[in-house]
Amino acid sequence: MTNTDTHAAALAETAAAAFRSTFGTEPEGLWAAPGRVNLIGEHTDYNDGFVMPFALPFYAVVAAAKADEWSFHSTYGEGETVRAQDLGGPTGGTVDGWAGYLAGVAWALNESGYPVGPTRFALHSDVPVGGGLSSSAAIECAVLIALADLYGHDIDRAEAARIAQKAENEYVGAPTGVLDQSASLLCEAGHVMFMDCRDLSREQVPFDLAAADLTMLVIDTQAPHRHADGEYAARRADCEEAARQLGVPFLRDAPKHAKLDDERLNRRMRHIITENERVLQTAALLKEGRTAEIGGLLTASHTSLRYDYEVSSVELDSAVDAALGAGALGARMTGGGFGGSAIALVEAASAQKVEAAVVDAAAQAGLPTPRVFTARAAAGAHRVR
Ligand code: GLA
Repeated sequence: MTNTDTHAAALAETAAAAFRSTFGTEPEGLWAAPGRVNLIGEHTDYNDGFVMPFALPFYAVVAAAKADEWSFHSTYGEGETVRAQDLGGPTGGTVDGWAGYLAGVAWALNESGYPVGPTRFALHSDVPVGGGLSSSAAIECAVLIALADLYGHDIDRAEAARIAQKAENEYVGAPTGVLDQSASLLCEAGHVMFMDCRDLSREQVPFDLAAADLTMLVIDTQAPHRHADGEYAARRADCEEAARQLGVPFLRDAPKHAKLDDERLNRRMRHIITENERVLQTAALLKEGRTAEIGGLLTASHTSLRYDYEVSSVELDSAVDAALGAGALGARMTGGGFGGSAIALVEAASAQKVEAAVVDAAAQAGLPTPRVFTARAAAGAHRVR
């Protein structure tokens, strides 16, 4: 995967071939949207706080064309095709399962004043499913830019992120924030994106790890993340309750030394307050070219997520501890947690040693064998042709 666009284009050809064999016609175009890693700023998005994702060179791609009924074909599994005359919605929309992520975006566009009509899609993706790397947001964003192009809507990318989030929240029914869709639509190659979730204002910060002799490892623990199961919603509810008790609109607005009587709420709040601080510090260090120095902030983020926010898992802790033990400069879980992936910032020369230590630690503990790869900041969502 040396060239992101070449890779997205190759995936898109597979989607095009699937489109042809399923529908017997040519697609009108091919669109790609990436998965992401969040460098730091976890569970801050729905608290109106700061995040810092970059796009990974894994893409969901769709081949699409206008048609007279909705059809969603996927190369996943058996290569199923789901057809629907109308989209229904909101939550409990007529199309569910994987196809709901596509149908939901069409529904959300219609709801947001961007009318779109029946369309055929063939979907292909190499974003690991359940790895906490935003495989669902990648699908939503590819579908969104495809429909916008096909139906002639010029939608600002930040607004598009909100529309894709609406699809996930209201049609699919997952109460997630805006991090994943913003990352997929707005990240730029070679950059990490500092974003304020209050107004989606952002700054692209150069992120050239190789120039600093550094490597970012992504460790997919192969333990599926499970934030649809109510824990994610429970953290959101805790944050809302903490903000209510403090009398602020969001925990973003909590004073630095705020205290709450309820011990659990206090820990949740402390994570959000300190995590927002860490994002600001990370951004400042990166802008000064002091990349190696962000390691301590990444590790502090993990500790806070593990003990104060309680969204880590045995697999994630094992990966983080082993990476640090083998000399990583910093390591943390990334994404929603409860499984999924971790990241480790390492000196390029010790990448193999860290990877071996992580795999070894999992074997010792009887955990699934993690899949480890080197991350590179790739391009955001785009039309392939
Ligand atoms: C998931 C959600 C995001 C965000 C992260 C945690 O990825 O989809 O909106 O809340 O968890 O930072």
